[in-house]
Amino acid sequence: MIMFDNASSTSVKRSEGQRPLVDNSRTATARAHSNIAFVKYWGNCDHRLRLPANSSISMNLSALHTTTTVDWNGRLDADQLTINGIAAGEGALGRARDHLDALRRRFGVNAFASVTSRNNFPMGTGIASSASAFAALTAAAAAAARFELPEREMSALARLGSGSAARSVPAGYVEWHAGSSHETSFAESFAPPQHWNLVDVIAIVSREHKQVGSSAGHETAASSALQPARVASAPARCDAVKSAILRRDFDHFASVVEEDSNLMHAVMMTSQPPLFYWDPLSLVIMKAVRRWRQQEGIPVCYTLDAGPNVHCICLASEADAVSGRLLALSEGIDVMQSGVGAGACVLPPV
Ligand code: PMV
Repeated sequence: MIMFDNASSTSVKRSEGQRPLVDNSRTATARAHSNIAFVKYWGNCDHRLRLPANSSISMNLSALHTTTTVDWNGRLDADQLTINGIAAGEGALGRARDHLDALRRRFGVNAFASVTSRNNFPMGTGIASSASAFAALTAAAAAAARFELPEREMSALARLGSGSAARSVPAGYVEWHAGSSHETSFAESFAPPQHWNLVDVIAIVSREHKQVGSSAGHETAASSALQPARVASAPARCDAVKSAILRRDFDHFASVVEEDSNLMHAVMMTSQPPLFYWDPLSLVIMKAVRRWRQQEGIPVCYTLDAGPNVHCICLASEADAVSGRLLALSEGIDVMQSGVGAGACVLPPV
């Protein structure tokens, strides 16, 4: 039987040849959506706990999700991870293993896990999957361990795997409170998905895997002279974006979302070593989006994460027109569309 010991903090450590500690398995499957931040998370106060330098605001993306099955299995001699049908390499496996260690400690599980994960969006589109991946992994691991956690704790646990994963646990429009400890750094919903029909039209300009991932980027953020100013002014932008969303005020929303994205990229470009995530085409799109809004009155604005793809946020009524305009801008652009997504959920057994 799998051992569940909430009081102890046992991570599985087994020497060679030693028999597994448990001999059966417990399985569950969960799904979580990716999210796009309107006020960005960049830089940590505590890297180990992924306590962010500032609070952030996002919406979940209904069209982009990860479905993950966790099998806590006493017959395994090591954790296993398959992503989209392929055994994960040491980098992804090591990161999943670290997160599984934290979950084992929390749930008192004394077994290795077999983790099978599938993204519904194509790998290699340059669309980051760590938020949906760690939110789905956390929810599936908890369900498999027969734990029903409050959403707030699920979000805090997901944060340990990838900061932005905290925001993929609650539904719709979400605020991640930076907090000052593991327990106080969690995300919660402030409006449901149906509150405002925004669409993220993602302009894919590069399919390359980014050279510097966000975990490494968070570590260099403090080396930028601009980071203190960005962090100090983030609470005002969180308030402004949240209130613009609640009032469905697109113009106000657009100006703060673009400013926040520019501020994060200014920090990235002035860090040591500098990080340049934009592609020349990214800038072409950013300028076009501003022109469309300011000169033609189209409700659309841009935001970019740690990569060159441009997330064009618009009212649902404009999504097809925005997609068409993006495709017509230049040859190397593909588009994907996503509305506002639900929170992480456990799927019924098949
Ligand atoms: O959760 P991470 O470590 O992948 O960091 C996400 C960082 C950004 O996507 C650039 C910003 C954000 O808030 O999502």
